[in-house]
Parts: sequence; structure tokens; C-alpha cells
Amino acid sequence: MTSPFLGYGRQTVAQDDIDAVVAVLRGDYLTQGPLVDRFEQALAERVGAAYAVAVSNGTAGLHLACLAADFGPGQRGLTSALTFVASANCFYYCGGEAGVVDVDAETLCLSPAALAQSLADGDNVTAIVPVDFGGLAAGNAELRTAAGKRVIIEDACHAFGGDYADGAPVGSGKHADMTVFSFHPVKPITTGEGGAITTNDPEFARRLRLLRSHGIEREPTRLQDKGPASGEPRPWHYEQQSLGYNYRLTDMQAALGLTQLSKLDGFLARRREIAAYYDAQLTKLPGLQVPQSAPDMRRRSGMHLYLIQVDWPRFGTTRGRVMEALRGRGIGTQVHYIPVYRQPYHAHRMAVRPALFPNAERYFDECLSIPLFPSMTDTDAERVVAVLREVLGA
Ligand SMILES: Cc1ncc(COP(=O)(O)O)c(C=O)c1O
Repeated sequence: MTSPFLGYGRQTVAQDDIDAVVAVLRGDYLTQGPLVDRFEQALAERVGAAYAVAVSNGTAGLHLACLAADFGPGQRGLTSALTFVASANCFYYCGGEAGVVDVDAETLCLSPAALAQSLADGDNVTAIVPVDFGGLAAGNAELRTAAGKRVIIEDACHAFGGDYADGAPVGSGKHADMTVFSFHPVKPITTGEGGAITTNDPEFARRLRLLRSHGIEREPTRLQDKGPASGEPRPWHYEQQSLGYNYRLTDMQAALGLTQLSKLDGFLARRREIAAYYDAQLTKLPGLQVPQSAPDMRRRSGMHLYLIQVDWPRFGTTRGRVMEALRGRGIGTQVHYIPVYRQPYHAHRMAVRPALFPNAERYFDECLSIPLFPSMTDTDAERVVAVLREVLGA
């Protein structure tokens, strides 16, 4: 029997997940209904935040968080040089400009020192989007100090279930004003497409809820038109008071989110187990480095990705050749990420030199993400290590 193809990540969906979605399909609400409320409550409880607002995906969450913070034209937002493009696109969606900051070579998260330097060069930066790279939380007191009074919108799309270095859960608001999660299939839990923003600020939460549904207000005390003096009821009435979107999550997705959430600890434990095996096998290979493998980082990371850095010339090969050879043997890998400033759209708008980001550049040259997801078996993990070593000749 041939072994199954192993992607770098994938969803873990079981019968209870399927049953929960099917039950919604047999019920009254398909789009936003009571399960979205329950999912939001469960998310908020899990991370220890006052509010969670579910949205259609992580990108929508970043967009709405920027809008809720009044980010807009004439302002600039900064994010990590090493991230998915969505972390920077959110600033452009709002009519502002985006810039990037180099990462710390150890954590691969936005470097507080580089942030302080960028801010000292100063222009109208009002928002910071640190990225929890690979699942390792970026937030800490140093980042807050560097950011000053600017809003911190943490891109925790990789890090649901992770903790900050001080033990507080990612999403608790300890080191960010708003925290954005993604529930895309490769992420810690999935709803298909989906995302959420957590915050402790009631005004941010209120705005986020309005903006995810066209900017429509239904709460009677908040309506601008107070209605006829006679008090005649108007049960149909609603007001669009700002320009929002349709970024809602559905009850089908929320049902899946609830069953997935109930399994998050098991998923995390399995991710950590596989990572521990990889660490034992790979950290001592000359020519290969395993970033974020220090025990204190492993303990608190959401372990979204298993990252390696390879000195390709030392193995007499290139990354492209290795990726193709692995693919031919049924093992998927990925490069996370081509730095944002190298993407043509961003290169044009940001007009920065790659040399300004030495840590992101080095990482980009060397990096590869190898398979890591909860339903991998021990045999799968052993196969990844054996084939990788064989392909590298290590
Ligand atoms: C760091 C980061 N930010 C944002 C996103 C966007 O999330 P979504 O795909 O749910 O829109 C992703 C998704 O891959 C991501 O990796």
C-alpha cells in the first residue's frame, strides 16, 4: 500500500464534527444563528477575553480590527516582514499605508527593537500588527513599550491555543488591544473558512459586530431616528450607520468550530508530541537548524508550523530540488513566507530595500515547513525524517 500524501498541514475532522454540521443543516438556521453566539462565548472563555467576535475569515478579522481602531487614510500601519500578505493588506483595505519591520532572529516574530527603531524614524504610524509566527506568540511588555499608545492588533492566525511568555493565553488581551484568529483548515482548529477577534474593550467589540454586518444597527437605544412620538412600534426598523461588510460566520461553521474547540487541547498535545520527535531527530543535524525549538518556546507555542532552516549549499542542493524530491516521495512542504516586501504589489507601494531586513532575508533563504498536523501518525513522522535525511544526504 502506498503511503498517503502528507501536506505541511491539514484539518483533523472526525465523525462528531460531521454530525454537528449535519445537525445544523437539518435545523432552522444556516447562516448566523444561535451557534455563532455559543461559539463566541466559548472562544472568549477559552482565551480569557471579555468578547469574541466571529467573522468569515482571519483576513476579514484584521480588516475589521483596523476599522474598529479608526485606522484609515493618512495613517500607516506596521507589521512583520515575515508573514502572510493579509497582515499588511488590512492597512491598505482601510485606505492607509503599510510598512514592515524586521523579525527577531530567534523568535521569528516582529522584533521590538526593530519596531522602536522604525518608530523613531517616525511618520504617522498608528497601528501595529505583530504576527505570532508559526504559533509562537509575539506579544510582550517590550513590544507594548515600543508601540507606545498605538493600537496593537495581534495577528494570532497561527496561535490559537498558545500562550505568551508570561503564561497568559494568546487572545486574553494581555499584550494586544485586539487579537485576530483564523480557522482555515491548516490552522489549530478549523471552521473551513472562519476567524474571530477577541478583545476586552466593549467599544471595539460593538464596532466589530456592526462592521461585520454592513454597519447595520438594530439596538433601539442606538438608533438615530427615534421613531414616532406616539411610540408606534416599528419592528422592521434598522439603520445602516457606517460602511460595513458581510463578514459573518455561519451556524454551520460555528457548529464545526464548537466541536473542534472541544478537541483543541488534544490537537495541541499531538502537535507538541510530533514536534518533540522532530526536535530529537533534527536539531543535531549539522547544516540544519530548528528555530523556535528552545523548550520555553515549544511549551507555549500553538505549534502551527514545524520550521527548519537549511544551509542548502552545504548539502550540495537547492530548496527547490529538495521540495520536488520530497513531493515525489509523498511529502508536502512549504515556504513560510516570501517576505511581504518582496511581493510585487507591496514592493511597489512600500519601496523598501530587502537589505533593511537581514533576519527575514536570511530566514527566507533557508526556511522550509515540514508536515505537522494532529492526525499524523508516528509512522508518518518517522517517514518525514527518514525521507528528508535521505534527500539531503544527511
Ligand atoms: C499570519 C496570517 N495572517 C492572516 C491570515 C489570513 O487568514 P485567513 O486565511 O483566515 O483569511 C493567515 C492565513 O493563512 C496567516 O497565516
